Amino acid sequence: MSRRGFLEQIRQGGVSLSPELAAAFAAVPREAFVPDGFQRRDGTWAKPSDADFLELIYKDDVLVTKVDGRTPISSSSQPSLMAMMIEALDVRPGHRVLEIGAGTGYNAALLASLGAEVVSVDVQPDVAGKAREALKAAKIDGVRVEHGDGYAGSAGDRFDRVIVTVGIAGLSPRWRAEVVVAPVEHAGTHPVLAVRDRAGTVVTPSGFMTAAGPLTAAHPFPAPAAPGTLAEFTDYEGPCFDPPLEPLTYRDLWYAAGVWNRRTTLAAVPHREQNALIILDLTRTGGAVVLPDGSVLAGGAEAAAWAAEAAALRDRWLGAGRPPMRAWRVGLAPAGDPEAPILVPSSWELTR
Ligand SMILES: C[S@@+](CC[C@H](N)C(=O)[O-])C[C@H]1O[C@@H](n2cnc3c(N)ncnc32)[C@H](O)[C@@H]1O
Repeated sequence: MSRRGFLEQIRQGGVSLSPELAAAFAAVPREAFVPDGFQRRDGTWAKPSDADFLELIYKDDVLVTKVDGRTPISSSSQPSLMAMMIEALDVRPGHRVLEIGAGTGYNAALLASLGAEVVSVDVQPDVAGKAREALKAAKIDGVRVEHGDGYAGSAGDRFDRVIVTVGIAGLSPRWRAEVVVAPVEHAGTHPVLAVRDRAGTVVTPSGFMTAAGPLTAAHPFPAPAAPGTLAEFTDYEGPCFDPPLEPLTYRDLWYAAGVWNRRTTLAAVPHREQNALIILDLTRTGGAVVLPDGSVLAGGAEAAAWAAEAAALRDRWLGAGRPPMRAWRVGLAPAGDPEAPILVPSSWELTR
């Protein structure tokens, strides 16, 4: 896979790359940031000496670089997702950028190639150390890697931009910057928000790993925890979308359902390949599912009531003109531990 093919793959993810960002992706060697290889999708480890190593590196795919058991705890994110976040960051030459989640250092290298001065923080000391070495080996100037919890920011520094590359429950009030781009928890996953003055708009859905420490602190408006073992779910309403909703449009329905009912999440349900929109009852074993074709399944002690609620949420989204997630304006407010508050999504309004 050539670098040229790499840019085409990134664009296929639906991103329009600025000439500057395209040049950065073309210039920075991604392989320099995964010198110890990465975990293939089949669980085996890809090494730089493998014949297909470069081909895999220059795909629009996440590269998991560290695992704890079966859980990924560091990675190089999916390039098209990185591109959407960097474009939303609106970074200019000379900007001071704070990155939370240094990981491999590749995203910081791209930002530096755009002319930013970057401070990148990672909570894992070995990860921070390797990112530092990779940046040096790739001869990237303009990045300082620090070890620490990103909640604190970087002591005494002010930034023009903050980019968070790990899923968080809320923003740290210590990040003082005009624009913060961050994956903030909503209804079970982390859609990326671009936040200015405590108001955010959704950039894209994402599947980031979850941050350690106060950035994922409990707060009064959380999504339900992951489902327990689900009860038998049976059909309550048949399909009403023909054709079924495309994956991104289904996410728009999920986003709206999450605004209107805080028991909404995305989760694996039996006999379905993809995660589904589910409204969980308080036992987290029952509730109702809305599938991409609009049909409703429900289970548990109050199945009929949850099925009615799920159908009402679906119909409310239809009645509102199928708003995309980008149409929501999200208000953030302080919540959680008074000693270490975070700014969490707490109000929503439709802008169109
Ligand atoms: C998806 S990786 C970041 C990808 C990275 N930007 C890159 O280009 O490779 C997420 C990283 O966030 C780090 N992390 C998790 N919680 C953190 C926290 N509270 N503060 C700083 N870093 C954190 C993890 O150690 C992990 O390396």
